[in-house]
Amino acid sequence: MVIAANLKTNLTRAKTAQYVDALEAFLKQHAIGQKVLVFPATSNLVTSQAHVTLGVQNAYPTQNGAFTGEIGLEQLEEFAIKTILIGHSERRHVLGESQETLVSKFNFFKEQGFEILYCIGEPLEVREAGEEAMMAYLEAQYAGIDTTYEKLIIAYEPVWAIGTGKTPTLEDIESLHAKLKAKSKAPLLYGGSVNMKNYQEVLALQNVDGVLVGGASLVVEDFAQMCLFAQTLNK
Ligand code: PGA
Repeated sequence: MVIAANLKTNLTRAKTAQYVDALEAFLKQHAIGQKVLVFPATSNLVTSQAHVTLGVQNAYPTQNGAFTGEIGLEQLEEFAIKTILIGHSERRHVLGESQETLVSKFNFFKEQGFEILYCIGEPLEVREAGEEAMMAYLEAQYAGIDTTYEKLIIAYEPVWAIGTGKTPTLEDIESLHAKLKAKSKAPLLYGGSVNMKNYQEVLALQNVDGVLVGGASLVVEDFAQMCLFAQTLNK
């Protein structure tokens, strides 16, 4: 399974380093063989350890150059980062990234052999518009994306579930994941208000190959428990 922590714009450089060290020690101690990804704020990047793979929350599709406020491949190479999050709902809806922009990032980082965690998910009004509207919306988020890329991981994260404490029902997650699995065989994570109360049920669902966790991942002991539980599921 894939257990991923999106630390967003949280923690300092020192706290992130402590977080990664504590997580690494826990995973080692419990011989956890799951894929564990941590996406820290860009200024807090450190190199991956044996069990914890570090990824970047965003980068510009360039080696280097004149792209004020962005980082490119040259800056990622310094930390040997080979994993990137693309299409997170906050990038799409808060920072205004279009599908076209995401596709250019996807293609660039695919070309560089990066592992790509690509996020999709619908806003509330789309879900409320019914099944057909929702599937059409999600379909459009696959446009231009190579769904057969061998280093692709997909995360389904309903926008209305992110950071709100609301989640779809377990049945809804399971049935949607079955439909999304028909579009791509890539590991499919669920994200959006995964927490200490629901992670076991979510991880146990069919066609859920892991979780992408925001707020609840900030407490390293909690995130470590999710990794430990994933190990007990024979998936
Ligand atoms: P959340 O965020 O767990 O805080 O809802 C998930 C995400 O944005 O990836």
